[in-house]
Amino acid sequence: MEPKTVLAICGSLRSDSLHFALLSALARRAPRLRLVGQELVRELPLYNPELDEWDRIPAPVREFRLLAGAAEAVVISSPEYLHAPSGVTKNALEWLVGSLGIVGKPALLMSASPGSTGGLRGLAGLLPTMQLMDSMLLDPLSVSRAPMRIRPNGDVLDPVLEARLQVAVDELMAALEEQVVHS
Ligand SMILES: Cc1cc2nc3c(=O)[nH]c(=O)nc-3n(C[C@H](O)[C@H](O)[C@H](O)COP(=O)(O)O)c2cc1C
Repeated sequence: MEPKTVLAICGSLRSDSLHFALLSALARRAPRLRLVGQELVRELPLYNPELDEWDRIPAPVREFRLLAGAAEAVVISSPEYLHAPSGVTKNALEWLVGSLGIVGKPALLMSASPGSTGGLRGLAGLLPTMQLMDSMLLDPLSVSRAPMRIRPNGDVLDPVLEARLQVAVDELMAALEEQVVHS
């Protein structure tokens, strides 16, 4: 299979982010995937419909939409803040509303937390948004007690998480291959 471009949205801006660690771990297991867009997510301004006019769209938003449009899938690694997806995640998705960015594309949602719920409520909050945006949801991955299972650099310490990450990669690759067959 040709290398595939995947839009990556990390919903945390923290340097030792568990969610960035999950994206790194995923990327290592999927050398044929090129994750793009992560740097742009942190440059997006807060969504404002008044900026969403063709002559006023901020440069990072234009670039982000172009990357999203060219990507063949999306991976969102989002923390749960206040029992909901983080504002960073939501903001990135709001900027995609005016584009065809993720419509019909496979979408892998991931979350992690130090506690026992693994950020599941944040993922649950994302499901209706992703459905409304017409993405093709894959089985989500949520990781509880994450600091004991993954290092900030993406090194995985737990064989069970290792296996679950591999399943997520396999499912994403299968969905991408299926797209090729149907295109
Ligand atoms: C403002 C804020 C709100 C949070 N709300 C929740 C929450 O509702 N549920 C939860 O399980 N963890 C919550 N947490 C803890 C985060 O899940 C935890 O800090 C996680 O590691 C954040 O992701 P990161 O490591 O990628 O930055 C919250 C953290 C912050 C800073």
